[in-house]
Amino acid sequence: MKIYAYGIRDDEKPYLDSWAKENPDVTVGSTKELLDESTVDQAKGSDGVVVYQQKPYTAEVIDKLASYGVKFMSLRNVGVDNIDADAIKRNGMKVTNVPAYSPEAIAEFTVTELMRLLRKTKVFDNKIAHGDLRWAPDIAEELNQLTVGVFATGRIGRAAIKIYKGFGAKVIGYDVYRNPELEKEGIYVDTPEELYRQSDVLSIHAPATKENEHMLNDEAFSQMKDGVYILNPARGSLVDTDALIRALDSGKVAGAALDVYEDEVGIFNTDFGSFDAIPDERLKNLIKRDNVLVSPHIAFYTKRAVRNMVYFAMDANKSLIISGKSDKLVKL
Ligand code: COI
Repeated sequence: MKIYAYGIRDDEKPYLDSWAKENPDVTVGSTKELLDESTVDQAKGSDGVVVYQQKPYTAEVIDKLASYGVKFMSLRNVGVDNIDADAIKRNGMKVTNVPAYSPEAIAEFTVTELMRLLRKTKVFDNKIAHGDLRWAPDIAEELNQLTVGVFATGRIGRAAIKIYKGFGAKVIGYDVYRNPELEKEGIYVDTPEELYRQSDVLSIHAPATKENEHMLNDEAFSQMKDGVYILNPARGSLVDTDALIRALDSGKVAGAALDVYEDEVGIFNTDFGSFDAIPDERLKNLIKRDNVLVSPHIAFYTKRAVRNMVYFAMDANKSLIISGKSDKLVKL
């Protein structure tokens, strides 16, 4: 049996090699290149492919994979928003993802960024770099005094809630699918609007869907408390960036930590050589602000998470090839 892995980064390769050693019954091929129209032919002769990329898995690529007899595709990440679902269904292909490679990685990073915003570390780092060691006017807020609204209480949202509670914050949550334990604790509010109305901090952990595109728009911001903090480690499409910029300009939003950005594909995880060379003026506008923390989709990027992404995806693909079954099958 043969599995071909696309987009294997240098930090993933050692994990792929050790998985291959532990699974001598599988021939493992790999490339650094992403899966697209120009590389899909490399999968010929394989039983399954293992992939991770933010650029789309197009109908053309999926049709070609199927025509080569490759019916199993295993993602090394959680999000499945860039897959042409119709093409997958039409070709009778099966897709798995890794729903939980490390929810804690993302939760820990989200809270780190919130603490940086609340304690104004970006402001102080800049002041100190210029020899200004004064305190005022950059007085901080304490998380234990705030209400954190968690939008979506899946694995990542729940991992974040644990940490927020450890800090002594009041936590409220919204999700269409309620978690029974959290329900018992009475954290849920009934509508997103109620969450917006009550939260000092909004921590977003929802997957991207067609329905929730730009859910944080002018109207949503207008329903929030003045001086709210926005944390988005989830998907860029959830936030209308222009509306966020307006809300930052007006002071409605006191600060934002964005690990994702709606136009991040082709920009994040790229070295442009200088700040000026970053080819996105709107992103640069955000990065320049003292009260905005932009990071290039790194919340997931820990040793444990990367190892699990490779191992769990390879295990799932092998299981599909052997039995057509996997506990990580995705409903598209
Ligand atoms: C996902 O798993 O869907 C992520 O957002 C992390 C990705 C950058 C590897």
